[in-house]
Amino acid sequence: MFSNIQNQLFNNHILSLSQFDRMMLEDLIQAILYMKTHGMPNALSGKVIGSCFMEPSTRTRLSFDVAIKRLGGHVIGFDNNENTSSRKGESLSDMMCVISSYVDAIILRHPKEGSAYLASQLSSVPIINAGDGSNQHPTQTVLDLFSIYESQNTLDGLTILCVGDLKYGRTVHSLIHALSYFKVQFIFVAPEGLQLPQYLIEDLDHNHIAYEVYSHLEKAIPQADIIYMTRIQQERLDDTEYQYLVTPYLLKKAMLKKAKSNMKILHPLPRLNEIELAIDHTPFAYYFQQATNGMYARMALLTLLLNKQAHWGTLT
Ligand code: CP
Repeated sequence: MFSNIQNQLFNNHILSLSQFDRMMLEDLIQAILYMKTHGMPNALSGKVIGSCFMEPSTRTRLSFDVAIKRLGGHVIGFDNNENTSSRKGESLSDMMCVISSYVDAIILRHPKEGSAYLASQLSSVPIINAGDGSNQHPTQTVLDLFSIYESQNTLDGLTILCVGDLKYGRTVHSLIHALSYFKVQFIFVAPEGLQLPQYLIEDLDHNHIAYEVYSHLEKAIPQADIIYMTRIQQERLDDTEYQYLVTPYLLKKAMLKKAKSNMKILHPLPRLNEIELAIDHTPFAYYFQQATNGMYARMALLTLLLNKQAHWGTLT
């Protein structure tokens, strides 16, 4: 299985969804399936990965850490920028230049849009964008796509309802980009002032992807195959924006009475109060399986990034 595919990810940076196409994403889904069913304990044998988190993270950092360990690699790095020499004024450029001389790849989370691209210009090893401000979070999107595929058995013909902070939510930006390679339609529900940025609307128009904008969440639910909930990205709002923000949308169990039987709810997490806890124990909830899939998705991505010929059968 997959022993003949061209590994276009080998030795490349992972910065944005624009570097993928439909075929690459379909191949990745198969690679994640393989990781989930077989694993590959020696794929990163002898490799050291730098994990550089300059913004808080639970899932992304820990799922990368555990993915590296399950593939037989080692991880070094930091999860708190306060303990690095950036506190003394060192630039990101210098930091990336030095760390890339120690490791085989760097995972970077940073609060500024474009930081992963900047790092890629200075690093001698692949940079993996683990979230750059409100811009992109490509590895989250890979696990989101896999979770949609796993729950629906297809990525075509689906209606995806995106809810919440569509302005600053980088996971939803990356997801919309990725799903545009497939035959989907979107419904957007966002609080006043947090609607999808114009450039993404223009991308949808350019790609002839159908979308509708609703103000009532409950009215949109019966059409949805996937509800993709997001939290308000308070850390990216200025005080004025936050002060005037309307109440965020809350998905309640009672609102799901007319949902399709196989509809699934995703959320990149962390959840604040967007999803009522009572939903957790319904068959609609898929956000915890989604978070688990993050580990397998990152195992697949790291394996492809650092092994030219990912002969799935022979690397095990
Ligand atoms: N989904 C996500 O990026 O979660 P963390 O911020 O906890 O990594």
